Amino acid sequence: MMSSFEGRDVISIKDFSREDLEYLFSVTDRIEDITKERPDLLRDKIMVLLFFEPSTRTRLSFETAMKKLGGKTVGFSKPMTASIAKGENLADTIRVVENYGDLIVLRHPMEGAARMAADFATVPVINAGSGAQEHPTQAMLDLYTIRKEKGKIDGLNIGILGDLRHARTVNSLVYGLSKYDVRLYLISHPLLRMREEVLRDISDKIEVHETEDLSEVIPELDVLYVTRIQKERFLHPSDYEKVKESYRLTPEIVQKGKEDLIIMHPLPRVDEIDARVDSLKQAVYFRQTKYGLLVRMALISLILGAIR
Ligand code: NCD
Repeated sequence: MMSSFEGRDVISIKDFSREDLEYLFSVTDRIEDITKERPDLLRDKIMVLLFFEPSTRTRLSFETAMKKLGGKTVGFSKPMTASIAKGENLADTIRVVENYGDLIVLRHPMEGAARMAADFATVPVINAGSGAQEHPTQAMLDLYTIRKEKGKIDGLNIGILGDLRHARTVNSLVYGLSKYDVRLYLISHPLLRMREEVLRDISDKIEVHETEDLSEVIPELDVLYVTRIQKERFLHPSDYEKVKESYRLTPEIVQKGKEDLIIMHPLPRVDEIDARVDSLKQAVYFRQTKYGLLVRMALISLILGAIR
């Protein structure tokens, strides 16, 4: 059953049904046409961006989405210059800023931070990354990218390569994918293996294969989602040293895959994808960011009740 988006928090992809996601995608398909007719859809609305962790594209993507809808943004991305440096706690920050805006977008290193913020706030909260746990809007745009590029999600073989333990985009994506009929290939070094509880949750719903060797499974894949090693989330720097050069996607490996394979990445990329891959037709990771903008425009419009 689909529930309305108006006034809703976006904390975990698990809170959204397949019908919700399909509805969001159908609005995303139309959002450019809608804004052509109604460029001031979100006039007088203010988005508050609270970024307690580094971000370039996610923050710019939300800001651009809001401005393209005729709305305004306020916020910070350097908490050391804000009151946080004076020791203000997150709950107080939320209770203050909810008086300034209609919607809060929060990125925070602590797992559970977004849920807590939503409990305190009377305005909707969007989780733009909570520690290593979740990044639901990234999963929405990842699913939308697959749907646009492959025409469907059901029936596909999807490989996820890299840091499956610490990447929040991966957690959210696999929970999102588990709402569809897909076969999942998890490709990682043993130290980067997906967390046991996540594996257990999704294995109940979809077929999951784990491997260390990309070249063994690449011929099967329709989608390959590559991730950066999340260096900042390692407890022991020596573990990072052990895995830091454990994988790198090159044109030679891509050649072993299907002709119509698509390669995705949430970005930023470090050196897990060879720059020579960028010009291959399989590489869709820069287009993915454009889809992300459209998905966020649709999502914000729905949450603020400008589109129903
Ligand atoms: C990701 C993140 O912050 O989790 N970036 C993003 O939002 N697109 C991925 C990453 O940092 O590797």
